[in-house]
Amino acid sequence: MTKPPPTLRWSGGTNGHLVLLDQTRLPGQVVELACRDVEDVWEAIRSLRVRGAPAIGIAAAYGVVLAATEKTQVSAAIERLATSRPTAVNLFWALQRMQTVADSDPAERNPQDLAERLLNEARQIHGEDRGQCAAIGRHGALRLADLPEGAGILTHCNAGALATGGEGTALAVIFALHAAGKRPHVFVDETRPLLQGARLTAWELQQRGIRATLICDSMAAQVMREGRVRAVITGADRIAASGDTANKIGTYSVAVAANAHQVPFYIAAPTTTFDLSLDSGEQIPIEERLAEEITCLAGTPTAPADIAVYNPAFDVTPARLIRAIISERGVIEPVTASSVRQHTAASC
Ligand code: MRU
Repeated sequence: MTKPPPTLRWSGGTNGHLVLLDQTRLPGQVVELACRDVEDVWEAIRSLRVRGAPAIGIAAAYGVVLAATEKTQVSAAIERLATSRPTAVNLFWALQRMQTVADSDPAERNPQDLAERLLNEARQIHGEDRGQCAAIGRHGALRLADLPEGAGILTHCNAGALATGGEGTALAVIFALHAAGKRPHVFVDETRPLLQGARLTAWELQQRGIRATLICDSMAAQVMREGRVRAVITGADRIAASGDTANKIGTYSVAVAANAHQVPFYIAAPTTTFDLSLDSGEQIPIEERLAEEITCLAGTPTAPADIAVYNPAFDVTPARLIRAIISERGVIEPVTASSVRQHTAASC
């Protein structure tokens, strides 16, 4: 099997452009997409051509480089990209880093210098995320080392290489367990309505030869009741100071089912996904998406015209349902406001 292209890469120097693996075409077509201006990047994030909290932060950082001819344009690009999606805090974190670079030399002499510094920063953000994914994999595999060989692990949405600059968060843990010889059997929630589990996670696991079984979201509780699942692990889009965690819609139902069946529920996320400015999950902004994502399947209507639709793209799992959060710094367990504060304040 030929290795697929990376989730995202920068092509060329300061006059170059961003190249994304277009995730809306997977698994059927493995196609790269060139983004040559800020609007291209905005559209790619909004329409989930690039998605997953860390990956959209990295894409947005490269997007800023595309506007780096002068400082006012950089700030306008940052403002624009910040409107692409509201929930994943990594987007705003990465844009803030780019703004700080732009602000750091108020008397910018040469636009070329600014472009170089912005490109370096975007590459730095990308590289740091790669390292964080690897560390999450290591910490997670240690935390889950007690699982028996072949244990069932359920995941929701996609928190793999397609969602990050590295090997993923939740899937990095599964990859590390697999590499350690644990041969996990992954139950993949299809993840309605946009099927990130079926289209992306199932594809990533197949690529790596990891045993995977696809299920509808509505089957997760039954699969747990049948005793097939020893642990659940998902990624996150924003974690409040309380440990309450926003992730793809349906994650909360999975956490409730896991707790009802005494199956431990884990979150894997880098510290860039924490938002300590929010006390609790109730304050996390939840993206609402178009009705057509629910009323149509591949362009064909599956519901009567004009039916009222509610389509939140994320939900919040309360900290009390989360056994532990695994970050690049280690493991937060139990998940409380004080353990979150301690963990995020510690130096790496
Ligand atoms: O709407 P998406 O596909 O961007 O949602 C992605 C998720 O919910 C992921 O689980 C999350 O961003 C973590 S990715 C490491």
